[in-house]
Amino acid sequence: MLKKIVLSGKTKLNGEIKISGAKNAALPIIVSSLLCNGTLKLSNIPHLLDITTLIYLLTHLGVKVRVDGDLSNKGNGKVMELNAESLTGYNAPYSIVSQMRASFIVLGPLLARFGKAEVSLPGGCAIGSRPVDIHLTAFEQMGVDITIEEGYVKASVKDGKLKGANIEFRQPSVGATQNIMMAACLAEGITRISNAAMEPEIIDLANCLNAMGAKVKGAGTLDIEIEGVKELHSAEYSVMGDRIEAASYMIGAIMTDGDLTLSGLDFYNTLECVIEKLKYIGADIEKISDNKIRIKRGNGKLKPIDIITEPYPGYPTDIQAQIMTLLSMIDGDSTIDETIFENRFMHVPELNRMGANISIMGNKAVIEGKENCFKNAQVMATDLRASVSLVLAGLCAENKTEIGRIYHLERGYEFLANKLNGCGANIEVMYDKNQ
Ligand code: EPZ
Repeated sequence: MLKKIVLSGKTKLNGEIKISGAKNAALPIIVSSLLCNGTLKLSNIPHLLDITTLIYLLTHLGVKVRVDGDLSNKGNGKVMELNAESLTGYNAPYSIVSQMRASFIVLGPLLARFGKAEVSLPGGCAIGSRPVDIHLTAFEQMGVDITIEEGYVKASVKDGKLKGANIEFRQPSVGATQNIMMAACLAEGITRISNAAMEPEIIDLANCLNAMGAKVKGAGTLDIEIEGVKELHSAEYSVMGDRIEAASYMIGAIMTDGDLTLSGLDFYNTLECVIEKLKYIGADIEKISDNKIRIKRGNGKLKPIDIITEPYPGYPTDIQAQIMTLLSMIDGDSTIDETIFENRFMHVPELNRMGANISIMGNKAVIEGKENCFKNAQVMATDLRASVSLVLAGLCAENKTEIGRIYHLERGYEFLANKLNGCGANIEVMYDKNQ
């Protein structure tokens, strides 16, 4: 039986929230254990469905995993030890990769360890077609023969050893940057990636690889240089905080006219663009320390804004649905251009059912905002970030809002109901008899 969320009535979010470890940093960092000739000990790993799915894949490949499963340790993440000294397989099956496309990045480490790999093509998903051509073209440049057979990428390294190469991406891709960066750590010679993705999660992965003895320079810029080494050794690493989770709660504080103190993330080095936009809209954001901020509405009226999603350091696509929800309740017209994914407006019909007035023209959403627009309704979560936007809308609606199919939320928001209830919300997670 699927689960649903029931939110009761309007709530001001007041209090403190500790931001969890970042899903999108933890996933590639866990994958990087495949390169390690020893044990990688990780901390600040969030308790999430996507992490469990990835661990299932790694154990299938022969990685020995030890998890500190103490769930009472809320908000401090899991500690996980991964040992990939005796891998047993190089096949990542469709049944797992189709559930979570981030698992496609096992391709690079498997090629580096075995000289061959078979990884299912991930296929499209709710937000777009999401091809992997940038990954595959780059591997070919590193001396890999690639064929696609029965939905699988079958890859083998021509002379048994990956070769360093000068690779220019036709556009920045987070996953391709991670895939190539990991493979290049054990390749012969130097690999240079230009037009690389610059997201903070790329820097976190590079820092973890370097802690294992890799030689990665320039992560966080457009040009990354990786000098191949013979092997990577045991290391300990703590995963960065989740900037998308943090931004979701920041937006929640403004929407509910609340007052939140958030900690556990280097806010100003990961969310600069978002902070700038929220301040323009009318947020009052106080820096308490590098890792702690306080956010509430400022004194003036909230203002509409035009937003364009872009690769980092631009405005993130992963915080598009949340800001659209906020803009729906600000008097005046706002627009959002979604430039990263072609189908990332699935939340619009659901937000409109709750009282928003949003129309879509191609990749542009026009939001005719109106204060107090949200009314309660029964709605359906469609993807991870869309789901949290419905929760935020529900916190601003009178009476009961019911959100179905919340497994999407469980993929990416650790202890969401507990964290929000700790700040005054009234959210219940229950089984949905109708699903
Ligand atoms: C990562 O996905 C994130 N996932 C996504 O977060 C995020 O939305 C996205 O980056 C953009 O920031 C993880 O980190 C696990 P891309 P990824 O490769 O790596 C096109 C969330 O909600 N492209 O940077 O798959 C692609 O179709 C998720 O947590 C190609 O055309 O994203 C897209 O339009 C969802 N060919 C654009 O590039 C390729 O070979 C950016 O994709 C690869 C990508």
